[in-house]
This record gives sequence, structure tokens and C-alpha cells, in this order.
Amino acid sequence: MDADELPLIADSVAFVKGLKKPTVADVLRSAQAQGLVAIQPRCGVGGHEQMRALLLALEEGARPDILSLTIDSYTRLNQFDMALSALCNAPEELNGYPLVTHGWRRGRDLNQAISVPLEVRHGSPLPRRLFETAVASGITSFEGGGISYNLPYCKDVPLVDSLNAYAEIDVRCGELAQAGVVVDRELFGSLTGVLVPPSVSLAISVLEAVMAAHAGVACISIAYPQSGNMVQDVAALRAIRSLAVRYLPPSVDVYPVLHEFMGVFPKSRARAEQLIFAGALTARLGGAAKVVTKTIQEGYGIPDASANIHGMRLARVANAPFIHSIRLDESALDEEQYWIEREVDEIVGPLLEAIDLPLAISSAFEDGSLDVPFSASRHARSSVMPCRDRAGAVRYLDAGGLPFSEDVRRRNRSLLEDRWLTADDHERMQLLMADINYFLEPPGEQEFDFVPAVVESATQGSDPEETYVA
Ligand code: 5AD
Repeated sequence: MDADELPLIADSVAFVKGLKKPTVADVLRSAQAQGLVAIQPRCGVGGHEQMRALLLALEEGARPDILSLTIDSYTRLNQFDMALSALCNAPEELNGYPLVTHGWRRGRDLNQAISVPLEVRHGSPLPRRLFETAVASGITSFEGGGISYNLPYCKDVPLVDSLNAYAEIDVRCGELAQAGVVVDRELFGSLTGVLVPPSVSLAISVLEAVMAAHAGVACISIAYPQSGNMVQDVAALRAIRSLAVRYLPPSVDVYPVLHEFMGVFPKSRARAEQLIFAGALTARLGGAAKVVTKTIQEGYGIPDASANIHGMRLARVANAPFIHSIRLDESALDEEQYWIEREVDEIVGPLLEAIDLPLAISSAFEDGSLDVPFSASRHARSSVMPCRDRAGAVRYLDAGGLPFSEDVRRRNRSLLEDRWLTADDHERMQLLMADINYFLEPPGEQEFDFVPAVVESATQGSDPEETYVA
């Protein structure tokens, strides 16, 4: 429990070099060069020995390219005393690894135990201590952004606070890059995970990426959540490349990343496997450098090691050499990509002219010209209403205050089934629920299928009321 005295930056740099393993940036570069997708799970348990055993089991069972430390909710909320008390009394109740409480020496111990690099995955709007402990542990990737790790998770953290916290982290990443260690910054485009229109996800990531690049970050992963419509998803992954060229300096390495489906997951093994494989295939066809995997236990809670191994192995099938020859309809992809980029341009264009970008972002969320559907935060209007079109792609039923042209609005409307446009409020709610539960099996189906055992998922963090209040 040595959280307070951190090593000097030179010591952490020497530690990373001494590990004699690739950084996350190295893994992404090499995957991209080979046209393959690096595989990464989420994983985190409370106890240190249990965490080390879990990492070793996942490494041995599925040979992932990158491993994760998924952080517990107390640490995400900077409630280190609560994390300590849970760790002392009932570590199995933590829903992730409390890295700050364990301290950087144990972080280094985990890092040394495995042969692949580590990323910290969390969900914290104010992660200064977590970041410093991660760097001291020699961890070479850190997830999150000042918008994307605030609005989906918090009720009342002002955006300027989280944007400032991430600006400091990005400056530190710049210093580390100068000192010879590139820390990848993965931007959490998945947001609320529920019917997020691709252009909302990508516009927010572009804004976070512009700020990160400005602060000196050398490697940025732009994560995009699988919507489930393969043409839309591949087009969105391709759009990441063009948007990077348009908005970011060439000195920054940018990698598209796919998060396998983040919404309501099917419970039956068969349907869960279909969705997982479709996600991995989407990542491969879209040229993603990395996929973050799901498991057949997603519908039940936090996965155990064997489900996690199975999910990674299933995703790796999409790295089969012959799969590169699978082709989607190029003209449909081009059209979809054109509109995604156009929507992103229309959202970010006015903001990027501002002198003070964080301030402009904060006021844009206030007036609704930036928005996230279904946000928990009082700092976003959530007046954007998404839905699925005839082909299951996510569209804007109502674009709220987003500054879209008439062309964009017209196209979105034209893709929707008529029933959306004629429905009253009650019918709309039913249609919306059906779209949210799009991949859920019909009632009864799961009874005829294998239902996996699941680790008792932690009660902590499962209360929807438990959000960060500044
Ligand atoms: N270990 C593994 N997966 C986790 N998730 C959250 N916490 C953990 C953990 N400790 C996963 C959820 C969901 C995603 C948001 O993160 O199962 O897939």
C-alpha cells in the first residue's frame, strides 16, 4: 500500500525498457502492418494473487496480444478508502483490480509476470492518481477521455473538470514519449453503449484526439462500438483513417479499434457466439488494429477466465489468412463512409474553430450542439434520439440540437421505416426497446440452450444510482 511515493519518471522509463517486451503501441503497429487484428480481453479481480493468476490463465489459454487491468468502481470514483476496506475484508466483491490501493510495485509485479503489454481500462472521469500509478507500473496504454469517460458514467462532474484531468494526462504522455516510452491513449468511443450513432462516437473521439495530439500524445487508439450492421461498422472503422488524416497531425499514430457489441447481449450461447464472431470479422474487414472482446457470459455478468478465453479464441478465428478475401459491397461502404464523415465534419467543424476548445465543448453540450444519447449526466441534454433503420444500422430518429445540414437530416429520415415516422409516443417507446434489445433472443429461446455458469458478479457498481457526484 505504497500509493503515495511514486518513482521518478526516469525510473519508470527504465523499468519499461527493462521489461523486454513490446509496448501496446508496438503491438498495434505490427498488427496493422500485417493486416491482422490484435486481441484483447477485459479482466480484473480484487486480490493481487488472483489478478496475477487470472492474467497468466488468460495468457496461457488464448495468447492475447494485449492484456487489461480492468479497474474496480471504488478506484474509478477515487474512493480509495472504500477500495482498501473491500480489499481487506472481501476482495472477491470488488468488480475490478484496485491498482492505486495495491500500489505500483504490485502493478510492476503483474507486468513482469506476463509477456504481453498491459492497458488500464477503467471509466474514471478524474483519473490522475490511477494514471500515475499505471505509468509507475510500466503500463503502456491508458483508456478514456475527458468527454467519453465522463458523460456515460457520471451524473454531475462538470466537463471542464474531466477535460482538465485528461489534458494533464495527455501532457504527461507527451513527456513520456519524449523520454522514450510511448503510452497509447485509447479513446472510449463506446460512450453509453446503447444505439450510439457512429458520427456521435467518432465526433467525440475526434475532439478528444485533437486535444490529445495537441498535448503531445504520440499514439491514439480510436475505439468504435460494433452497432451490428456490418456495412455501417466497416465504413465507420474506415472513416477513422480519413478523419485522422483530416484532423490530426501526421506525427501521431492513429489506430482504429473495435469494441465488440456493447449493448444488451443475447443470453444463449449460440447467439452470443454469433455476435462475438461477427464483431471480430467486422474488425478484420474494417482494418481495425485491435478488437476488445466479449464473452458468452456477457448477458449474465463479469466473465470467468474460461469464458474470457473462449471469447478471445472465437475472435481470433477472424484472423484466418483467407478471410482478407471476403468482400462487402464497396459502393454501399463508400456511400455509408461518405455520410459518416460528413456528419462528423458537421458536428466538429464549428468547434474546431474555437480558441478554447475545452470551453467550446462544454458550452456545446450545454446548448445541445454536441450530445450523447441516453447519457446519465446532467451536463448533456440527451435529446438526440437514435433508432435502427430497415437494415439494422443506427440512424438519427431525432438529431436534437446537432448542427446537421438539411441533407443529413433528410437522408436519416429516408432510411427509416414509415412506422417510426407515424408512431405515437407509446409506440415509439416500444420500437425503441425493440431496437435496444435487437440481439436478444425471443423469450423462451434461451431455455433450450446452454446457459453458462458465471462468477458471482460484484454487487458494487451494479446500482444505477451509484454514479460519481462531484
Ligand atoms: N472483468 C472482466 N470484464 C469486465 N467488465 C467490467 N468489469 C470487468 C471485469 N472486472 C466488462 C463487462 C462489459 C464491459 C463494459 O466491461 O462485462 O462487457
